[in-house]
Amino acid sequence: MKTTIDDLKFIDIPKIIDHRGNISVIENDVLPYDIKRVYYLYDVPSGAVRGGHAHKNLYQCLIALSGSFDVLLNDGVNEIRITLNKPNKGLLIPNAIWRELEDFSSGSVCLVLASDVYKEEDYIRDFHDFKSYKAY
Ligand code: TYD
Repeated sequence: MKTTIDDLKFIDIPKIIDHRGNISVIENDVLPYDIKRVYYLYDVPSGAVRGGHAHKNLYQCLIALSGSFDVLLNDGVNEIRITLNKPNKGLLIPNAIWRELEDFSSGSVCLVLASDVYKEEDYIRDFHDFKSYKAY
């Protein structure tokens, strides 16, 4: 699994600016995959950490719909921390990248646009297993 943190991408989500409030629109040409699942994290208590896994065959785009949080990403060799805090900026995470989400601000909402339906067998939930997986 050759993906690295260099394969992470920021996605600019088109924004329709309006003094009555802005609109951002995600159609399928915004992402390099068809969206098969949408979910969102919310009511995250202060200090909580989400994620703590990688996926074998899943692309995800994370968007801070409200508030902010940090995403810690690891490709088995290198690590990077990215703060998401804009509802028109997505973080595209390819397969086989370890991620942890933390430092959620009060009331923040993390929207996830995923390239596949939920499959527990697609998860790697142990960091040592992840390192072995990346070694091949
Ligand atoms: P998980 O993906 O580990 O949460 P996060 O990475 O956001 O911290 O999922 C937590 C639990 O929710 C786990 O038991 C599986 C379940 N779940 C589903 O049933 N369907 C889903 O689409 C997701 C994302 C999670």
